[in-house]
Amino acid sequence: MKTLRVALDGPAGAGKSTVAKLVAKSLGLTYVDTGAMYRAITWKALQEQINPADEAALTAISSRVQIDFKLTSEGQDVFLDGVDITEEIRARDVTANVSAVSAVPGVRASLVKLQQEIANKMGVVMDGRDIGTVVLPDADVKIWLTASVEERARRRYEEMTAKGHQLDFEQLKRDIERRDELDSGREHSPMKRADDAVIVDTSGLGIEAVVEKILHICRSAEAQNF
Ligand code: CDP
Ligand code: CDP
Repeated sequence: MKTLRVALDGPAGAGKSTVAKLVAKSLGLTYVDTGAMYRAITWKALQEQINPADEAALTAISSRVQIDFKLTSEGQDVFLDGVDITEEIRARDVTANVSAVSAVPGVRASLVKLQQEIANKMGVVMDGRDIGTVVLPDADVKIWLTASVEERARRRYEEMTAKGHQLDFEQLKRDIERRDELDSGREHSPMKRADDAVIVDTSGLGIEAVVEKILHICRSAEAQNF
């Protein structure tokens, strides 16, 4: 099971990172959150006051910085050049700018290379938008995780308000729809379901039920492939 490579893609708030973490733990694989990498570059660009339209500067940042992950009991911590930015990359300004930064071809080239290097070294559950199509086109398991936008917004709303953030539900829903539009409409490796991905619609499904479904798919793939 250690070398299984699982690609988990889907829109914002579908439950990818929550489910990917649990599946990875259960199968003894490494969880890789590729969204956190795009968020880390976005955070750095905001720190350096780089315009999200300045492709050359963004490309330079992504080839220069070192991104590392450290697994913890709650998930994973993200470090950029040795600095822990786990909390910072979830900030609103990072979320608002990440789609623009991640549309830059030079940024994608650096991060896709890093993601492929990790998956060459170990078995992974990798979550993102283009894992099954671009990063790991020959992954052993490809899942497209989705849910209605209403439900995805509700989940994010509950998650954020539980952490003490105050937000407007309708605005949050519009932000999610806008980000999905930008991510699926961009020219380079857009968010897209791979033709051979299994669709798992999580609307009305709890986390445990989704994890069980995906574990079942992984175990079937393992039985066939290994
Ligand atoms: O967790 P959430 O759905 O809010 O997003 P995320 O997985 O942290 O990803 C943040 C953003 O990074 C996405 O909206 C995409 O713009 C970008 N992304 C990407 O372009 N390709 C990936 N493989 C993963 C994320
Ligand atoms: O990574 P992605 O943006 O796809 O979603 P997430 O951050 O894993 O999940 C967003 C929120 O939905 C979290 O608070 C999860 O606990 C919750 N969730 C849920 O309520 N039911 C599911 N089946 C999956 C996730």
